[in-house]
Amino acid sequence: MRIPIIAGNWKMNKNVDEALEFVNQLKNEVNETDVEVVLCCPFIALSEVKKAIEGTKVKLGAQNMHWEESGAYTGEISADMLLNIGVDYVIIGHSERRQYFNETDEIVNLKVKKAVAKGIKPILCIGETLEERESNQTFEVVKTQTVKALEGITEEDLKNIVIAYEPIWAIGTGKTASSQDANAVIANIREVVKELYNETVSEVVRIQYGGSVKSANATEIMNESDIDGALVGGASLEAKEFLGIVHF
Ligand code: 13P
Repeated sequence: MRIPIIAGNWKMNKNVDEALEFVNQLKNEVNETDVEVVLCCPFIALSEVKKAIEGTKVKLGAQNMHWEESGAYTGEISADMLLNIGVDYVIIGHSERRQYFNETDEIVNLKVKKAVAKGIKPILCIGETLEERESNQTFEVVKTQTVKALEGITEEDLKNIVIAYEPIWAIGTGKTASSQDANAVIANIREVVKELYNETVSEVVRIQYGGSVKSANATEIMNESDIDGALVGGASLEAKEFLGIVHF
């Protein structure tokens, strides 16, 4: 039984005050849910949000981290720094990081390995471009991304990794993959995990869909057999809308 996981990725939005206002609107509305709720905040808000969610069911996520222990990496944040705040999850390999900050599959793999070694759960993002989809390369692309990101990851570690399938053409565009299409790709990712490891772990690992998820389409998406949650961008910025997704 895979526990659904709904994570908000605020991206480069919300200052500390805005983050706290959001948490105050949200935190008492999720106590009854069986869904795991994660807020992936900008670095500057992590500490304050951590205090604000104490005693609630909300989990804390970061949006990125560096793979080295520490040192001369100006502007970067280490796994230990995130752990010190009490971060539970970290988004790794988001397509915006791959696209704008040149993150390769190799870098993504280094980050995934570091996060699991430190006990932070990665939300590993993969997904194809529109061009790749239109030339029928979707399965191949997500397979390569999955295989490369999980290189050197043990079966035990994999249980703590959440995979987020986010077709790039569906991010922030209002276009969602049809729930059947998303489910087919996610079932395929599960098949890749089965080939890499075994059936048991492929049935345990949680795989989210991301890309223009909102309260209006969350039920349909979440009802699909292989989709275990959502990674939500724009619709996670407003508490009421995000709650609509959490209570799909
Ligand atoms: P949107 O929900 O705004 O399409 O963003 C999806 C996303 O990139 C989440 O990581």
